Amino acid sequence: MLNVWADGAEAGLLDRYRERGSTFAYLPDMPASRAVSATMPVRLPSWSVSFGLPPIFEMNLPEGFLRERLRLAFAKAAGSFDEFDLLGIVGRSQVGRLRYTGRKDERLDEVPFQSIDEILAHQRDGELFRYLLEKFASFSGISGVQPKILVRDEGAFPDRAASAQRLSQSFRGATHIVKFWDPNEYPQLAANEYFCLTAARRCGLEVPPFRLAEDGAALVIDRFDLRMNGTYRGFEDFCVLNARRTDEKYRGSYETHVMKRFAQFASPSHLSQDLESLFLLIALNCGLRNGDAHLKNFGIVYGDVEGEARLAPVYDVVTTAVYLRNDSLALTLNGSTRWPHRQELQRLAETRCGLSPARVGQLLDRVATGIQETRVDVETYAAAHPAFQDVGHRMLQEWADGVLALAGR
Ligand SMILES: Nc1ncnc2c1ncn2[C@@H]1O[C@H](COP(=O)(O)OP(=O)(O)OP(=O)(O)O)[C@@H](O)[C@H]1O
Ligand SMILES: [Mg+2]
Repeated sequence: MLNVWADGAEAGLLDRYRERGSTFAYLPDMPASRAVSATMPVRLPSWSVSFGLPPIFEMNLPEGFLRERLRLAFAKAAGSFDEFDLLGIVGRSQVGRLRYTGRKDERLDEVPFQSIDEILAHQRDGELFRYLLEKFASFSGISGVQPKILVRDEGAFPDRAASAQRLSQSFRGATHIVKFWDPNEYPQLAANEYFCLTAARRCGLEVPPFRLAEDGAALVIDRFDLRMNGTYRGFEDFCVLNARRTDEKYRGSYETHVMKRFAQFASPSHLSQDLESLFLLIALNCGLRNGDAHLKNFGIVYGDVEGEARLAPVYDVVTTAVYLRNDSLALTLNGSTRWPHRQELQRLAETRCGLSPARVGQLLDRVATGIQETRVDVETYAAAHPAFQDVGHRMLQEWADGVLALAGR
């Protein structure tokens, strides 16, 4: 059985249920603000699933590399290893406002310190990578297939040095995400994502601060859910909002499972603004030829589970088409996973955001300009980093195709 914590306070108990499921019950007299998800309000009856974990508890379980590593490290001792076991291991350090502990454990957010500058200055030789994974795997309650860890360096907020000083002295939670890549599978993935995020920022989208290691071996990103008072905001991805399991992240459409769903959970006061941003992000993914914009790569954030929910800042945007020949959309648009043309995106914005054709035109032009301006950065970096040249040139080719499609040509 696990204790579930929300905003630093106990919320309920999670236990295995029947053969392969689990069940969650709120503790008596919980205030509505302690709800673990916008999809699971406080109530007397328990919330049960017959297979695995309810989506909000499954949301941050590591998927690929990290999951396998944790399984190898912990399966022997435990005899078997399922999602419940995995949550028990990475539960104390998670993305968002929920934490999980054993029944008798104290709730401690103690993540070891790791200098971000050291990671950024390192030359790739595999040693630091292995050391970091070893040390931080069990503090990394974060989803995704690529190798990554959560680390703590409360001094490493160069963009907000003044406010960083206000991070509470006793703060011991994770502050940054470090993403690596496997050279055999996705060469130069960190640099690829770095330039895609740069383009996103140029389009006017909110992107958390991100930095590329000097040797291109890692991308470091500030956690957008961390508040400077040392607490965490709520975060829920679109698998949760659609009541889907992680292995269903490629199932659905941008129209219904992203845009319509967002409108159901977003706060009305910023809905039109956030719908525009969401549309911009979908169009950007098409322009950059990102075929991995699935349900877990969009999310909402909130300070109060009953209060305002906003579109989460941008994360995980990559030109995947350089790794997968014939790559296509992760979800359907207009019933198809083909890369869309301007007219299809135009229709998406007009029907789902209620935007005028002129406004949609402006937004699509903004995406194209953001991508075009970032080409120079890619070229400059490629000139100075021969190892990136091949991937860099292929990115530029994909972007050229993407921008043409956005222009309706
Ligand atoms: N800056 C951030 N702050 C807080 N949480 C984040 C941030 N960036 C990503 N996340 C969370 O971490 C998860 C994994 O990150 P990300 O999507 O970048 O990894 P990935 O391994 O590339 O994913 P995928 O499996 O989609 O390829 C995201 O789904 C999101 O829940
Ligand atoms: Mg992802």
